[in-house]
Amino acid sequence: MKKVLISATLLLVSLEIMAGPKNVANGKFLFEDWGCKSCHAIGSQYNQDATKGPDLKGIFQRRNADWIKKFTKDPQAMIDSGDKDAVEMHKKYGTVMKKFKMADNEWNDIFEFLKSQK
Ligand code: HEC
Repeated sequence: MKKVLISATLLLVSLEIMAGPKNVANGKFLFEDWGCKSCHAIGSQYNQDATKGPDLKGIFQRRNADWIKKFTKDPQAMIDSGDKDAVEMHKKYGTVMKKFKMADNEWNDIFEFLKSQK
């Protein structure tokens, strides 16, 4: 019985660590719930007003994962730091994406969702 419990716990722990369909689904929910969809299209989904923010389809193919993490955590700080890509985008769109008070695990789920949108 103890063994079964231990393996069940281990399984749960590894499921938590591994990103799975559950994370992607939650990421989609968060993307909509936090209002990302009001400024970003993903291909033919969501807001098609391309003046608000870039289309995020294939974002993880276009950009480095560390860059995406850093940028989304604090867009204004990234622009202020003089990062070439952030400054270029900022010139193009005129608005600055706001800083979201979101937990790291929520960001991770959003990233899993965006990774799935190739
Ligand atoms: C008020 C509009 C707005 C909202 C809401 C918004 N963004 Fe943005 N986002 C932008 C703009 C504008 C840019 C371009 C950079 C800049 O000027 O800040 C951007 C850039 C990005 C980028 C980089 C895109 C690229 O091509 O490199 C990512 C990734 C991103 N946003 C993700 C998100 C996520 C995830 C959310 C929701 C948690 C979100 N955004 C909410 C306006 C918005």
